[in-house]
Amino acid sequence: MNRKEFLKSSCSGACVAMSSGFLMSALLAACKTPLGVIKTSADKDNMVVIPVSAFGQSDYKLVRVSNYNYDLAIQKKEDGTFFALVMMCTHASQPLTKTGNKYYCAMHGSQFTHEGEVIKGPAAQSMIRLSAVELKGNLYVHLRDL
Ligand code: FES
Repeated sequence: MNRKEFLKSSCSGACVAMSSGFLMSALLAACKTPLGVIKTSADKDNMVVIPVSAFGQSDYKLVRVSNYNYDLAIQKKEDGTFFALVMMCTHASQPLTKTGNKYYCAMHGSQFTHEGEVIKGPAAQSMIRLSAVELKGNLYVHLRDL
């Protein structure tokens, strides 16, 4: 390979790498959820505290707790109370993805309602539901060891 061929092949490789990087960032940007994600951590008693004001006008928040294997989907019910779902598939403990008004497991295709009930197996059990207690403007969610 002479110098001209080397430069030509190097440039095309770099251009492919740069364009794939550009495409990857565009794809990642497209994958961002329009829902706000709250990032937090649990205290020494495995309690997560989230200000109710973080919900604003929304009735749903995704909460990412550091050092916890699964996100929490916290939802406000029509009566004004809250509950939290652990975004873990009950079939083989894979993380779930929110798709529209459902939760989906990419591993084997289980689907759950927004309340955590099984729509489609192979999962046979509902998602794990945690209580979310509101007190003085904060929500308290006690994490379960999984
Ligand atoms: S792990 Fe979710 S369907 Fe199997």
